[in-house]
Formats: sequence, C-alpha cells, structure tokens
Amino acid sequence: MDDLRQKYLDLVAGAADEATLEDIRLQAVGKKGEVALAMRELGKMTPEERQVQGPKLNALKDEINSALAAKKAALGDAALDERLRGEWLDVTLPARDRRMGSIHPVSQVTEEVTTIFADMGFAVAEGPQIEDDWHNFDALNIPPHHPARQEHDTFFMHRDPGDNRPPHVLRTHTSPVQIRAMQKQGAPIRVIAPGRVYRSDYDQTHTPMFHQVEGLAIDRDISMANLKWTLEEFCRAYFEVDEVELRFRASHFPFTEPSAEVDLRCSWEGGQLKVGQGDDWMEILGSGMVHPKVLESAGVDPTQWQGFAFGMGIDRIAMLKYGIPDLRAFFDSDLRWLRHYGFSALDMPTMRGGLSR
Ligand code: DAH
Repeated sequence: MDDLRQKYLDLVAGAADEATLEDIRLQAVGKKGEVALAMRELGKMTPEERQVQGPKLNALKDEINSALAAKKAALGDAALDERLRGEWLDVTLPARDRRMGSIHPVSQVTEEVTTIFADMGFAVAEGPQIEDDWHNFDALNIPPHHPARQEHDTFFMHRDPGDNRPPHVLRTHTSPVQIRAMQKQGAPIRVIAPGRVYRSDYDQTHTPMFHQVEGLAIDRDISMANLKWTLEEFCRAYFEVDEVELRFRASHFPFTEPSAEVDLRCSWEGGQLKVGQGDDWMEILGSGMVHPKVLESAGVDPTQWQGFAFGMGIDRIAMLKYGIPDLRAFFDSDLRWLRHYGFSALDMPTMRGGLSR
C-alpha cells in the first residue's frame, strides 16, 4: 500500500496539465483503478484483516483524492497567472479615439437628456416606431376626425384591401410611449422616452424623420409646479448655466389639460445664443397635465392618479446648444460635418464630470 501511495503521489506531483491529472485519477481511484481493485481484494480477507486494511485503503483513496484536488487548483492558478501575464495591458495609455469616429449630436444630446432625467429619478421607456393608430392617436384623446390627425402629416403603412388588422402609422410623436409605459407599469410612474418620430415634412427646420423626448410623471399629487421645477432643473443642467427663466404660455394639446408651451429666456446678440439672459423667448417644448381620458385609456384610474407630461424636440435643442444652423445636415452623413459637430466617443456625459466637452 505504501508503494501505491508513493507511486500516485509522485505521479500527481509531476503532472503538467489537467488532462494528465485526470488520467492519473482514473488509473488510481477510478471505478477500475488500482485502489478499487485493492478494495475488491478485501473480500478474500478474514474479518480481522479486513478491519485493518479497509480503513487504510479508504484513507489512501482520500489522500490521493486530496493530492489530486490540490494539484488541480495549483495548475488552475498557474494557468490564470499565465493568462494575466499574456493579456496585460497599460490602461493609462492615451486612447486613439479619432479612429473610433465620433458621436452624432443627436446621440450626444439623447445621452445628455437621459443623464439629467436619470438623476431626477426618471427611467427610460421605449415603444415601436411602427405604431398602431390607437396608441398614436385614439388613446391620446385624438379621435379619428380630430384636426390634430391632419396636422401631424402622418405616414401610413401600406394595407392590402381586405386587411383587417388595425391601421399602423410611423409614429408621429413619442407620446404613444406614455400609453405603453402606463399599460405596462401602471402608476406611480416616472419615465422619459427618447426616440425617432416621422412626419411628411421637409425644409430647413423639418426632416421626415426627427427625434423627440417624451416625459411622464404620474403620482397621487403631481402638479404643474412639479412640472415647472423639473423643466427648470433640466434647462439649467442641459444648457450648463446657473440661472434660467421659463415662461409657460397657455396652449392646447388633446392629451393634456391644461396645456402649456414653454419658452426659455435668451438673447441672440451677435447671432450667438445665450440662455438665461436677454429679452428674447424661445419655444422649447409642449407640456401639460395628462388628460384624465389618457390615463383611463392606459388603464390608470384618473380619480386616484394625476401628473404631467411633456414633449421636446431633440434635434432642435441640439441645434440650439451646439449652434448648428441647418437641421437637414443632421442626416446627410457628410463626414466633414460629422467630424466638425461630432463628440468624442470616450467622453460619456455625466452629472459630475460634465455633460459636454
Ligand atoms: N406630442 C406633441 C408633439 O409631437 C408634443 C407634446 C406636447 C408632448 C405636450 C406632450 C405634451 O407630452 O404634454 O407635438
């Protein structure tokens, strides 16, 4: 038995990899291994001999097994060390970010907006760009013959005659995500929904595809005051100025009551936009208190819950902040434009580190 022990402990000690170790294991303590064979011999012994030899064999088996386990762990550690040495890299080296292209202003601003609202406890919600007309219109209190349907210059999806599925459109705004988010999550809820929207329109300030961000906050007692504070905080952070002034102008949207368009105090002196000072006002978004019918459509009880919503053009606020004159150039994929207005791929906007650099 001592010979057996020495033989296998030596073999284990000398094994150079896990496969060899496994062979040794089978040969020693496997079902047909030498120890198992020795165990079979126990049957031929007298009870007295068996009482002595049995425990000894078991102890031997345990000893070989622990030697195998220890060696296996050691080999694993050595392999990891080897890999770490091979994959070593100096993370303090400056990155070659030019090669990575640049971040489009729309992506940058979406990231900035998301960061600011995340800091105020808003999650991001999503919905489909091909939307059914119920979510895009009806659920938002825009019934079939409402003039707002015409104002939206809607793209309708093709339908074959006899196709009875609900009509689908390219969503004309991000507002249907309000409905989907409330259907899914109920109240209370605090979300923003950035994304692409589509309208059949094309000139210096309109492209058939553009971007909006929707905001929605529903709870027991959310008021216009919360809306105003939220938007002021947003504008301060987004335009990176200490003071902003907002003006709420009474307006009309079918999905809010009351409704307000929001203007931001600014000056355009010397063709340069300055936010928070001057005598000009610039419209930046539409908003209001979510209409009870909208809450109801989304399965939220309007006698228990209330809140605000707003919708803002992402491309528009990108143009304002970064002084980009023509909206159409956003989607031309002109490399010179992208290099000029793009952002470093390695600077993620954060509230602490700064939104834009
Ligand atoms: N959906 C509107 C549009 O596309 C924008 C809007 C206005 C969204 C008021 C809202 C809101 O949530 O409350 O023009």
